[in-house]
Amino acid sequence: MQPSSTLALVEMAAKLRREGHEVISLAVGEPDFTTPSTVIEAAYEAMKGGKTHYTPPRGIPELREKIAEKYRKENGVKISAENVIVTPAKMGIFIAVVSFVEPGDEVLIPDPGWVSYPEMVHFAGGKPVGYSLDENLGFRVNIEDLQEKVSGKTKVIIINSPSNPTGGVFTWDDLKAIRDLVLDHNLLLISDEIYEKIIYEGEHISPGIFEELLPHTIIVNGFSKSHAMTGWRIGYMIASQEHLSQMVKVQQHTISCAPSMAQYGALRALEDKDSVQKMVEEFRGRRDFVYSKLAEIPGLSVQKPRATFYMFPRYQFQISSKELAERLLREKYVAVTPGSAFGNNGEGHFRISFATSMENLKAGLERLTDFLAHL
Ligand SMILES: Cc1ncc(COP(=O)(O)O)c(C=O)c1O
Repeated sequence: MQPSSTLALVEMAAKLRREGHEVISLAVGEPDFTTPSTVIEAAYEAMKGGKTHYTPPRGIPELREKIAEKYRKENGVKISAENVIVTPAKMGIFIAVVSFVEPGDEVLIPDPGWVSYPEMVHFAGGKPVGYSLDENLGFRVNIEDLQEKVSGKTKVIIINSPSNPTGGVFTWDDLKAIRDLVLDHNLLLISDEIYEKIIYEGEHISPGIFEELLPHTIIVNGFSKSHAMTGWRIGYMIASQEHLSQMVKVQQHTISCAPSMAQYGALRALEDKDSVQKMVEEFRGRRDFVYSKLAEIPGLSVQKPRATFYMFPRYQFQISSKELAERLLREKYVAVTPGSAFGNNGEGHFRISFATSMENLKAGLERLTDFLAHL
């Protein structure tokens, strides 16, 4: 496995802060809001009531039931609590990958895509193969490219819609084409739906809606982004009972179960639609602001993301994204994530997170504009 390619920048930012510089981070991967107080109260009450022990490895039954109900009602996915394991989302993706990827297997991952997919595949001895998210299609999947990347060794396709780092969202047509590919080649589909709720236009469609695809699909979702619960380490996987019976072994012999109190908090979170709505509206305002500012900068081309709290502008300057991010941090004390961290297709881009205050965004974008004007 490779260390996080953004770690050097994080360390540099910390050093600059220690030296007294006011560093603005536009690189954060989590909501800047505090978890809704109702959720905190529910976890607190649970702890006071003695829910401080191990839970069953698959999670507390009432939460598994509620997650199944959510997917049935909101996503049209016909499953029951028997199809659910409660686990942190990142752990869920890891468990899915290590449970089914054998050495030499190829795993199709989005490029640009989340930094941890290739490293999880490496951990399992597999080979990550990037498929393109096409900027001209609003960063949707380029189906022809995806089809071409399928080989005799392909075992798994990972999709992430809405996408980190692009904010793109797959459509019905995209998902139908992916369904056909998975079924034709008897593949396993891992659908990372962690940004489901941070959506501004269009709708999130889970591939689990195709009943015939369910035996081939592992859905991963969680509460980190939707309910500002990154520190709680709580999410879940939805899969066929056959797949779950394999994956639960990894859970049993690693983390045993998700944190008990976090499970009770999550139970409450599933009832809290208002907080999610408020957070998304706040993000929407920031998105529009950041987009309007970036669109004015010469040498940048930017898509307005339909979802997530990320923007992934492309630049025309002759400089690598790593160098651009390093110089921006060193010279203007603004942290962004270099596009190359997200795969080959990310080069020539950088990622801005707008999960930070308007004040930070205004100041950060001013400094960025100034920096790019002098490149
Ligand atoms: C695409 C994607 N998947 C999964 C995760 C992991 O989520 P969690 O922190 O809930 O484990 C993240 C977190 O940044 C992410 O961006």
